[in-house]
Amino acid sequence: MRSVACAALCLAAGHAGAQSAGQTSALDESSAGTNTQVAAALLHAPYSDLRAIRPIAGDAEAGRRKSESCAGCHGEHGIAIVQEFPSLAGQHADFTYWQLVEYKRDAMPGGQMTPPMTPLAADLSDADMRDLAVYYAGLDPAAAPATEAAARPATAEQLQRGELLYLSGDPGRGIPPCQGCHGSDARGHRDALRRDRNGRTPYAAYPALRGQQAAYLRLKLAEYRDGKQQDSTTDFVMSGVAVALDDASIQDLSAWLASLSWAAN
Ligand code: HEC
Ligand code: HEC
Repeated sequence: MRSVACAALCLAAGHAGAQSAGQTSALDESSAGTNTQVAAALLHAPYSDLRAIRPIAGDAEAGRRKSESCAGCHGEHGIAIVQEFPSLAGQHADFTYWQLVEYKRDAMPGGQMTPPMTPLAADLSDADMRDLAVYYAGLDPAAAPATEAAARPATAEQLQRGELLYLSGDPGRGIPPCQGCHGSDARGHRDALRRDRNGRTPYAAYPALRGQQAAYLRLKLAEYRDGKQQDSTTDFVMSGVAVALDDASIQDLSAWLASLSWAAN
């Protein structure tokens, strides 16, 4: 277990070195063009190497029109209709885009066809994925109407434990502070938008977790812990963290994150 965590953290720490070994695109290429080529190549790779990504560009208005088929599950305002589905409003565009690329790759021959997202992503073009990602990133989660209440409301003690674990981790159990990668306010990595000297933004694919649906967070954390998410270098990073989580910690963290409102800090 420990060596997996180390490998993942070393991977995270190794961003700087990895960048020069990444895709060899010229610096003056448009970011959209560069990522499109990278994404096209990745569709045939065993996993996505996201250590050298560049910011994506898309058309939010076109994304809004294309989002009609998504609204049935992810909500008209990007807030999912049930707790088992993820909300997309306010999520980093780059994270959403690369998730869609991964689903699309799973739809290729030999991929793991997992409904509902894999078949849905199969028909999306690269421009569709960029437009949708930029559209959802621009939606204000605080402006959306309230969704269903949690079936099992969290207790005050549970929220406290979740907050403590998120902010401080638990060194004795090998759990690093989540805030180091997802931000102190759970809006994503603090360097998500900062370009390195090569114009790359490796931390843009680190998701915001604030106000995410509780049941979805629980499902996702258990999947990382159980080694079921192995599609990208970012999956390896998160799996290395999640191996140290037990069921109770997953419950506490998910309850606390889901309880955070986007309106407040
Ligand atoms: C039938 C319901 C359904 C529809 C329609 C649907 N989704 Fe999803 N979506 C899901 C579920 C369920 C998941 C979680 C799947 C998983 O964990 O792999 C998901 C996951 C995602 C994720 C990953 C989010 C995260 O935080 O990890 C993205 C991005 C996404 N969907 C985008 C879209 C887009 C864009 C569309 C429209 C083109 C769409 N979805 C249509 C049900 C749906
Ligand atoms: C070393 C950096 C790092 C640390 C520490 C970390 N994460 Fe992550 N986390 C990531 C990355 C990178 C991803 C994106 C994985 C992917 O591409 O699916 C991620 C994804 C997630 C997701 C999936 C979100 C979604 O919408 O699909 C959840 C939930 C999550 N992390 C929770 C946590 C919690 C809780 C902790 C603390 C116990 C934590 N993370 C600590 C890097 C980290």
